Amino acid sequence: MNTSSVDLNTGASTWHVVEDRFVPSLAAGRESIFTIGNGHLSTRGSFEERIPGEVRATFIHGLFVTPPGELPLLGAVPDWTELAMTFDGHPFGADGALGGYRRSLDMRTGILEREVLWRASESGVVKVRFRRLVSMAQPRLAALEVTLTALTNPVELWLETGIDTAVPSPSFSVWNPLRWSRPSKSNLRLEAASIDGAHRLVVETSLSGPGRLEMIRDPHHHRFTSQTMLPVGRPVTFTKFTVYHSSRDSGEPAAPPGPDVSFDKVAAASGRAWARRWQAATIDIDGDKIAERGVRFAAFQVIGASPSDDTGAAVGAKLASGFGYRHHVFWDTDIFIVPYLTVTLPGLARNHLGYRYRGLDGARRKAKRYGREGAFYAWESADTGDEVTPEWTSPSFGPPSRIWTGEIEEHITSDVAFAAHNYWRWTGDDKFMRDEGMEMIVEGARYWASRLQIEANGAHIRGVIGPDEYHSHVDDSFFTNLMAGWHLRTAADLVEHMVVDTPRVAASMSSRLGIGPAGPESWRRLADDIVLLDRADGVWEQHAGFFELEPVDLSKFTPRLKSMYDLLGMERAERSQVIKQADVVMAMSLHPEAVGSRPRRKRNWDYYIERCDQGSSLSMAVHARVAADLGLGGEAYDLFRAALAIDLEDIMGNARDGLHAATQGGILQATIFGFAGLRLEGDEPVLRPNLPDSWDRMGFSFFHRGKRFERELTGTKARRRRAASPKSTKDKEERA
Ligand code: BGC
Repeated sequence: MNTSSVDLNTGASTWHVVEDRFVPSLAAGRESIFTIGNGHLSTRGSFEERIPGEVRATFIHGLFVTPPGELPLLGAVPDWTELAMTFDGHPFGADGALGGYRRSLDMRTGILEREVLWRASESGVVKVRFRRLVSMAQPRLAALEVTLTALTNPVELWLETGIDTAVPSPSFSVWNPLRWSRPSKSNLRLEAASIDGAHRLVVETSLSGPGRLEMIRDPHHHRFTSQTMLPVGRPVTFTKFTVYHSSRDSGEPAAPPGPDVSFDKVAAASGRAWARRWQAATIDIDGDKIAERGVRFAAFQVIGASPSDDTGAAVGAKLASGFGYRHHVFWDTDIFIVPYLTVTLPGLARNHLGYRYRGLDGARRKAKRYGREGAFYAWESADTGDEVTPEWTSPSFGPPSRIWTGEIEEHITSDVAFAAHNYWRWTGDDKFMRDEGMEMIVEGARYWASRLQIEANGAHIRGVIGPDEYHSHVDDSFFTNLMAGWHLRTAADLVEHMVVDTPRVAASMSSRLGIGPAGPESWRRLADDIVLLDRADGVWEQHAGFFELEPVDLSKFTPRLKSMYDLLGMERAERSQVIKQADVVMAMSLHPEAVGSRPRRKRNWDYYIERCDQGSSLSMAVHARVAADLGLGGEAYDLFRAALAIDLEDIMGNARDGLHAATQGGILQATIFGFAGLRLEGDEPVLRPNLPDSWDRMGFSFFHRGKRFERELTGTKARRRRAASPKSTKDKEERA
């Protein structure tokens, strides 16, 4: 297919993602791209009218439901978006001709808009404009407006909209209606219970517009109807507000705004709240519109999907834009999202760490199940922190295969510690470290201490899966071992400092967690004994025996539409040196110095880049970041552009399941930590820019210890950003 004709990278403004043609086969993937979120609610960009193959869903963060015999999933809540219309008796959407079509997401304000010119046989032409948003100012509020203009002759309109409990999640509805009521002529209220009985939900919607509102009392879908004439040339507007209140919320449910409140008023308040986020998050890239739009899209989706309060919810592997991975939380959040938020909107990073702290008991239970000490974080977690990785795949064809990640992809424990420690280093939030961070890090260190196998030639971690999931049950995974060693040393340093800085807190924690005075020292010794395998030229061995596996020349398999895992089959892939995603290269992005000097890192890069089939959505952006750091400008940029295409061009063919959180977070990190070269040296933030040749200038801001830094970069130089936004003039600026 010629994808350029349905390209989203059109239009002058890089604040907009615009679709100017409707292609039914792309529709479900585009619903993910046109998701709007406000840190509490997220709604996929499904059309108001139903279309075949749609995946309609609104998600509320943290509202996990466990259907009988299944794992928890973030189900779709009763729907606020569906709106059916007929014009002179012809259903809108289904049988009319589309004389014009444009859908546009304004990322600056969070408004999704669609304009359609529509005509049915023997009827007039109607211009239809939809606008919708989930309010960044009032996170429980969603707003929808439709404006209809008959252009050629009067048209009779019939409109229906209400609250639909029958939206599947993804194959059946997880909400049962308990009670419908009509608090006023224009308000409809639903009380519903989740099918596992764990949650209650109140949804109230108000509709204003011309015509008398009647009610259709379908048990699963109560809805208003309105019938009216559309006069020629005079726009007619309906406005619908919906408020959600779940049993996870405190207080009483609020009523939606009434007929005196316009969509524009709600949009203005939400736009102001977005503007505050953008003050911190805007990245300008002069000279490269595709990159500028791509990083704005990434920031828009990451911010919209990041819980705005610390109530125990977290970003899922598909942000909150689809049913993929049931919204389970992976290392994708700790490693790909949180470091970006830490330097941009640290409050949102802190909310995630609160989620991990609440999950600590689940992690303790998991460690205990394996007969170990401390905390072993879940590879996939939902609401409690307990492990919820499925044990088997459920393929559409063929037999299921065993999934081992929930049992042995153990680096997750150190990924959580990395996110916490990195947040603390950048923010200086000692209270967090004292109250929550320390306990998570120490419990992880205790896990490693009980997990390591001490043998004559060192301390080993046997039988794991590293980031490269094509190889399972491997010994001494370089990434896992490096992270475990870093983790043990970091825990030792933190405990020793705590004993000096806050001895009482240290004493109470040590007795609660059973850390003896020799604990830190023994962790350090263990860390020194951990085996890291390499060969004479300085290339680290991804895991024991990797160098002896079958080499495969990936260039012979180019071009290809499938992953090498699919092409070679599981067994051959396991026996070969083909790797799924950045692994040793991943270690380079988190701990460059520990991997070695720049020439040594470059040698490792050269060895591993040709063995990586980029089979995971996490991989390209990390490679881009590391390549930028190694000064490989052209390669870094190509990988970055490939990462941008993953979701916006649906390169992996699974956009309908949702956007890839790690891709979007990775794009932002490649930009800020890779191309801009932001890092801490000692306690100081510094910039070591490596901008791509096509970028004339990059401007962005970051936070360090409560101060905002506005910077603009050209080539390899950094200076203060011109035209600083109002807040930055208040903030003290320091060197970077
Ligand atoms: C990747 C993991 C990732 C998961 C969720 C897998 O395909 O290999 O690293 O955590 O997807 O995105």
